[in-house]
Formats: sequence, C-alpha cells, structure tokens
Amino acid sequence: MKVLITGVAGFIGSNLLDYLLEKTDWQITGLDNLSTGTPDNIAVHKGNRRFEFIENECTGITSLKQFDKVFHLAALPRIQPSFELISQHITANLLNAVHLIEVMIREKHYPRLIYSGSSAIYGTPENIPTAEDEPVNCLSPYAFQKYEFEKYLELIATRFPLDYVTLRYFNPYGPRSFNPANKFNAYSSVVGIFLNRKRNNEELLITGDGQQKRDFIHVSDLAHANYLAAIHPHKLNTAFNIGNGSTLSVLDLAKMISAKYRFIEKREGEADITFADITKAKTILRWEPSHSIAAYLKSEVQVKG
Ligand SMILES: NC(=O)c1ccc[n+]([C@@H]2O[C@H](COP(=O)([O-])OP(=O)(O)OC[C@H]3O[C@@H](n4cnc5c(N)ncnc54)[C@H](O)[C@@H]3O)[C@@H](O)[C@H]2O)c1
Repeated sequence: MKVLITGVAGFIGSNLLDYLLEKTDWQITGLDNLSTGTPDNIAVHKGNRRFEFIENECTGITSLKQFDKVFHLAALPRIQPSFELISQHITANLLNAVHLIEVMIREKHYPRLIYSGSSAIYGTPENIPTAEDEPVNCLSPYAFQKYEFEKYLELIATRFPLDYVTLRYFNPYGPRSFNPANKFNAYSSVVGIFLNRKRNNEELLITGDGQQKRDFIHVSDLAHANYLAAIHPHKLNTAFNIGNGSTLSVLDLAKMISAKYRFIEKREGEADITFADITKAKTILRWEPSHSIAAYLKSEVQVKG
C-alpha cells in the first residue's frame, strides 16, 4: 500500500505518520511546504526506508497515480488569522484540496481521499451533543473554507467516481500541538498553549469567562480514525465527527494545569461549545476514542512541568 500524507510536518500529520509507520507496513510519502510545520516533527523518521519526505506545495503535486490513499491535512488551520490573511487561507484551505481532485480527474485515478475536516463548521451548534446532520453555521473564514471543500467533494462526486471520507475533528491535543516556530502559534490548540505557558512558569490566559466548552480529542485517536477510514472496505463518501464525546470548559482545563491564570478578552468567531455525537463513527468506522485528557495532562504536567 502506498499512501500520501499532505501536511506531514504539522501537528496532526506528524502524529499520523508515527501511527502509520508503527501500525502498518505501508510505504508513506509525506509532503509539506514547511510554512507552519517543522522538519523537527518528522526528524525521527529520517532514513526510514518506508518514508519519503517531499518539501513542496500541494499545488506542486502533478500525479497521484502511485498512491492508493491520500490523507489530506495540509492547511492553515487557525481561526483568527483567517479573518485577515483571507486569500492566503483560501489558497491553503480550499484551493490546495481542490487541486488534488483535479489531478485525480485528469489521471482518472481515484485513490481514497481522507480529508481532515473540522467541527468549526457547526459554529455554536443548536444540538448538543452535535451529530453530522447539524446545520452548518460557519463563524469564521477558516470554518467556511473547511466546509466549502466538503461541499466540493459532494458535488464533484456526482460527476466523477471520487472515493472520500471527511473526518470532522473536534479539539485535538497531544504531542507537538504547540510549535514555537509557527507564526500562528498564539492561536493553536488551547491545551498546547496552556502546557507551554505552564512549562515557562507563566500564568495561563483564559479568553472570555472560560465557560466555553470544548470536546478534546487525543491526536492518536485522530490517527486511528484516519487509518480506519482508509481501510474501510466500502466507498463511504460521507463525513464523520471525530471527537471524544464529552466536553470540558476552558476554565476547568486551566485549573487542571495550573493555579495561576487570568482572564483576557473573548475572541470572536469561536464557538461557545463543541461536543461531538460520535455514534456514526462508532457504528460505521468501528472507531472509538481511547485516551483521557486528564491522564494526558497529569503525565505532561508531572513529567515536563
Ligand atoms: N489542530 C486543530 O485544532 C484542528 C481542528 C480541526 C481540524 N483540523 C485540521 O487538521 C489538519 C491538520 O491540522 P494541524 O493542527 O496539524 O495543523 P498544522 O498547522 O500543525 O499542520 C498543517 C501543515 O500543513 C502544511 N501546509 C500548509 N499549507 C501547505 C501547502 N500549501 N502545501 C503543503 N503543505 C502545507 C504546514 O506547513 C503544516 O505543516 C488541517 O487540515 C486542519 O484544518 C485541525
């Protein structure tokens, strides 16, 4: 099996690489333009004969013929910068992905595309926990771009034999979620930011009143979902929520990490609550989360705090 991971040098891409190298015998090509990712994230696999790294733009891909599966993770996934650097985000989050479909159509070769989607498309949902048929309510350009590509997949699949799975991640945490070299790191996952500040002995900065709630999901659980989506025996052409199926307030999260925190201004464009209904992924993908955030925080704070 030959697979491509775009965005391999990022947080989730590098964890997916770790997972696939360990759990499968697949031959893996990883592509990244290193705009926000870092070679450090994949350095441990340098010299591994099952892994090849290509530094390039997604739009530099001219053929996908050799691949059986394509995991598309490359993106600029931060809500706040997407309000300002609009065209850059449209290119990164939509046009890159569209390019992959165009290559498939041109070559008449349709490897399964496992697309990293986002729960941001639900905005602040009406229904809690939130299932995949929740009305879309994009609060940011980023959310809209992630949704637009889902819609392109649906539309293009009416004319061409696309084979795709969208995984709508909720709030991922885990190793490498905070990359100090990433120019957008101030907007990365709150878990990574809080742990980084704790390590630097800085107080945690909580946006708004901290009552906003998040469904935190460990990155290894995301990697496992990607794997199950890739090996599922049937064409699925649908979206799955990938969350923990529970929710925790940002204030409670802060208290689990440090006694030193203060409140700063609320940020617009971010949901009040995320809470995944994961019944569909459990039933069809046979996927289930297996990590607890409490255990992760305990190990991180004790080992590295
Ligand atoms: N981290 C989250 O909170 C979260 C939540 C929901 C969904 N997602 C989705 O998961 C995916 C991965 O997110 P992440 O947190 O690992 O982000 P990340 O920023 O850590 O990784 C993205 C990677 O894509 C690369 N990249 C960006 N533009 C590129 C381009 N034009 N060509 C090639 N490479 C490019 C970057 O250099 C980076 O290494 C994204 O599609 C994101 O939308 C992330």
